[in-house]
Amino acid sequence: MSAVEYRIEGPCAVLVMQNPPVNGLAQAVRTGVMEALDRALADAEIKAVVITGSGGHFSGGADIREFNTPKMEAAPSLHDLIAAIERSAKPVVAAIEGTAMGGGLELALACHYRVATGKSVIALPEVKLGLLPGGGGTQRLPRVVGLELALNMIVSGTPVPAAKLAQTELFDAVVESGAVAAASQLIADRLAAGEVPVLVRDRKLVHADAEAFLDIARLNVRAMAGAYPAPMACLECVAASTSKPFDEGLRFECEQFTLLMNGEESKALRHAFFSERAASKIPDVPSDTPLRRIDKLGVIGAGTMGGGISMNFLNAGIPVTLVEQKQDALDRGVATMRGNYERSLKKGKLSQDKLDTRMALLTPSLSMEALADCDLIIEAVFEEIGVKQQVFEVLDAIAKPGAILASNTSTLDVDRIAGFTRRPADVLGMHFFSPANVMKLLEVVRGKATAKDALATVMALGKKIGKTAVVSGVCDGFIGNRMLEPYVREALFLVEEGASPQQVDKAMERFGMAMGPFRVGDLAGNDIGWSIRKRRYVERPEMFYPKLADRLCELGRFGQKVGKGWYRYEPGRRDAIPDAEVTALIDSHRRELGITPRALSDEEIVSRCVLALVNEGARLLEEGIAARASDLDVVYLSGYGFPALRGGPMHYADSLGLYNVARSMRGYAASAHGDRAFWTPAPLIEKLAADGGTFN
Ligand code: NAI
Repeated sequence: MSAVEYRIEGPCAVLVMQNPPVNGLAQAVRTGVMEALDRALADAEIKAVVITGSGGHFSGGADIREFNTPKMEAAPSLHDLIAAIERSAKPVVAAIEGTAMGGGLELALACHYRVATGKSVIALPEVKLGLLPGGGGTQRLPRVVGLELALNMIVSGTPVPAAKLAQTELFDAVVESGAVAAASQLIADRLAAGEVPVLVRDRKLVHADAEAFLDIARLNVRAMAGAYPAPMACLECVAASTSKPFDEGLRFECEQFTLLMNGEESKALRHAFFSERAASKIPDVPSDTPLRRIDKLGVIGAGTMGGGISMNFLNAGIPVTLVEQKQDALDRGVATMRGNYERSLKKGKLSQDKLDTRMALLTPSLSMEALADCDLIIEAVFEEIGVKQQVFEVLDAIAKPGAILASNTSTLDVDRIAGFTRRPADVLGMHFFSPANVMKLLEVVRGKATAKDALATVMALGKKIGKTAVVSGVCDGFIGNRMLEPYVREALFLVEEGASPQQVDKAMERFGMAMGPFRVGDLAGNDIGWSIRKRRYVERPEMFYPKLADRLCELGRFGQKVGKGWYRYEPGRRDAIPDAEVTALIDSHRRELGITPRALSDEEIVSRCVLALVNEGARLLEEGIAARASDLDVVYLSGYGFPALRGGPMHYADSLGLYNVARSMRGYAASAHGDRAFWTPAPLIEKLAADGGTFN
């Protein structure tokens, strides 16, 4: 299939971009459009050109498959195409159906006319990757939709249906269907009328009080953008469209685009975007692996996790049989789910119809036999190996052949659980995060014996229910919690040395974490970490733990649920208030250890906490628990509140330079209080540092 089909329809040449799935402007498409345009211009019989796309889409913009390849920059560029269209002696019409986004919309904006179907989706979404529309979008869009609307669209990147823009000058016609036929008709009419089209670049931007409007917009956008530079750069480019001649505005846009493109934030956001796509690919599992059919789901345990897990599948239209031991627990679980849906209904996020449809897909049951016809069964019962054993032995006896058996365990050995069945190839872990109906992350735990098709099926299902699924090998804590442990431990060492919990939290929050480690502890419940540590003291006595968190738990300070933890909480409120009892506890703990507190800089706090994640992450890579460093980044970005503008811990380490990372770690090994052995850089870091390499 050629990248652009050339068709003659009466006096029009129709150029059809063909690059599934959304006709991204790959080099072959750009070349194809240019050649077809030249052909139309050279043909005296042709009076006008219609550009459109195949497969129901105009164009989704830059082809992301060419990102970071020389093809992205190769001529003809989008700018070359835009210039050729604007110089064309024959009028060019964009016939838009489906998607017209980013560079696709910018191409359309260069055309002499635009016709769209009402349902087409229009957007300049570059800001979401920390960029701005660099193909003239910031200068042309305000000239056709007005300053305010253009600013909203460009700063937010939000898609807008063409029907909503029908009253603007963006479109010369918005039709129900058949954009190409409508475009041909429009051009015939305009040619017959002898109309001379005015290019968007030559139109005047009229706004009664642009400066005053922009001043207010600056305040709002600055507050919304925080540390992200792209939204303000978008705003200043749109502002330039009001104050500068067109070509000067274009030059300004180009400069700003280059600045963003080379900036750390956009690099991080682009890394995050590509990492998420990469996570769904499993190196030794072919992408065309036949998947098992999942038409019916079973969930065991209607507690905190089981209910939330079930909701994901009900939301996706998949029937769920939910099994509990006792009627009251089952009723409570179902009531919680209904309550969640009713809250969404009250907020206007869910219709009564949808609520009823979803609840109708749920079959609560007290009998394991009810799971006999399920294609996938997820166990979310108590975190005790004996209970898991009992459940999996029963499942082995009753589940149909080929059913996938999953455990939501957060700490237990999935291989051991698989060993409770005679079908370990069908067993894997599906580690959801709480609240399971909200959190995006899903760790899919691959056991030693897990079949490739079972793994591929669950990864695809994860996507279907809107999760970001990442494969983890079997280890204590899987990817996320295993990395979290040294991070939290380091935060505790920092407090023993002289920082306060609030200083550590504030430093990490300024770095961009959604919440500092002590606030997270209070939210999740400090008793969870305590029970894990108690187990560690027995199983791995060589591990070195700060005892401060145990002292806190001995006082019953389990966190928000009891109104006190590292902070205190007023009844019904979540504001973390520093508490003198905690300060006294820390003081006496330091005295016991003979530590004279010292002042710690925020920089040291951030460095030690983040590099603790990085060192453990490197070990996970060495052990083959994670397939690639970017998977670790995805886990932290989607499940642990790591700031997107840092691209994940491993990307952040790359941006620091792994030589510098290893050097800092050696420094902590020599000087920091705490587990000095931990700070020996993982061999992978030493190797990459020596080779000048990176994780990603
Ligand atoms: P939970 O205690 O809230 O719920 C467990 C439910 O399982 C209870 O309702 C109990 O009645 C039921 N149950 C126990 N044995 C059963 C059996 N034999 N048959 C049927 N039902 C049975 O526990 P939660 O928090 O939902 O945890 C469940 C699993 O999910 C555990 O393995 C836990 O480690 C894991 N997990 C928990 C997370 C959390 O944040 N709570 C996060 C990720 C995983």
